[in-house]
Amino acid sequence: MAASSRFSLAARCSLLLTAAALVLVLLSDGAHGHGAGLSSSFYDGSCAGTRDIVRRVIQDARVVDARIPASLIRLHFHDSFVNGCDGSLLLDDNLQAAIMTEKNVPANNRSARGFNVVDDIKRALENACPGIISCADILALAAEISVELAGGPSWTIPLGRRDGTTTNIKSANNLPSPFDPLQTLHEKFRNLGLDDTDLVALQGAHTFGWTQCQFTQRNCTAGQRAGALVNLDGVTPDVFDNKYYGNLLQGRDQLPSDQVMLSDPVAAATTAPIIRRFSGSQQDFFRNFAASMIKMGNISPLIGRDGEISNQARAPLYI
Ligand code: HEM
Ligand SMILES: *[C@@H]1O[C@H](CO)[C@@H](O)[C@H](O)[C@H]1NC(C)=O
Ligand SMILES: *[C@@H]1O[C@H](CO)[C@@H](O)[C@H](O)[C@H]1NC(C)=O
Repeated sequence: MAASSRFSLAARCSLLLTAAALVLVLLSDGAHGHGAGLSSSFYDGSCAGTRDIVRRVIQDARVVDARIPASLIRLHFHDSFVNGCDGSLLLDDNLQAAIMTEKNVPANNRSARGFNVVDDIKRALENACPGIISCADILALAAEISVELAGGPSWTIPLGRRDGTTTNIKSANNLPSPFDPLQTLHEKFRNLGLDDTDLVALQGAHTFGWTQCQFTQRNCTAGQRAGALVNLDGVTPDVFDNKYYGNLLQGRDQLPSDQVMLSDPVAAATTAPIIRRFSGSQQDFFRNFAASMIKMGNISPLIGRDGEISNQARAPLYI
């Protein structure tokens, strides 16, 4: 008797669970591609300290290396543009799982950096709240907090992304190049639902951080190694502000991909007016940058029961 009532209770529970799972699946299917299903309060109940922990690790890291905030936001960009914001950029080569890392494609090889800080954030979060916070969310949160720490705007990034277990080398090979013409940059952004304003605003992240001289408009000077570093923003190198656009109007930005947004034949009707706007108003730039970062962070997240919450940044759970 007792056993059968327990059974029927269990049966009813599993029916309810099945119904709940169905609703989740329906929600997540409808949500794919534009970030619906993410929420800025996602970890409030399960790990309320998330934000403070991420901030503390980045703060400690930037005392030693002022470049870290710039390096971290770039990781979120290179993650989000390849298979969506799924943390796949973090995965290392792994024969057993047939994973070929995205870290060796031209846009990342000897260029993407800050992975050790991501490891430190992941470790700190696993200590506080094991198995709760995805690596994809760590990248999104780290990007936001990095900008804020460097003097830029803050926004409340929606969370709830889950981690992918595969990489996509073909797509990673197609990341925007500093030598892409404007039409190609337009296309690469448009394919992900990002418009001209997003393109101009997001490239404004070149207000801080460094570039190798081999990627700059002037290339390297005699005797300089191809990998020698120069500031992306020569005026306020570590500060997140709108000086990038003023530099651009004076022809003093570093990358050809920055300059084409002003000088390409199609720029006058598309990107150039937006550059003038942002150069004239830091507030306008900040507002648009925050909105574009949320849009970029919404690219095809894995949610619901897709993907997993990895227990470390560099490999899937089952390794
Ligand atoms: C339009 C497409 C873009 C192109 C072609 C581009 C290209 C580049 C290149 C060539 C570098 C220097 C890399 C090196 O020298 O190793 C760089 C650095 C950087 N990029 Fe971009 N980028 C683009 C968009 C973005 C976006 C959307 C963001 C962020 C929202 C971003 C943030 C950064 C930052 C912060 C750095 C400095 C990183 C550091 O110092 O470690 N970039 N970018
Ligand atoms: C990465 O860059 C270095 C130096 O430019 C080069 O020697 C190496 O072959 C590159 N790795 C890959 C996988 O392309
Ligand atoms: C920059 O200079 C190096 C060495 O002179 C050369 O090999 C490379 O092709 C140049 N890059 C560009 C984009 O012109």
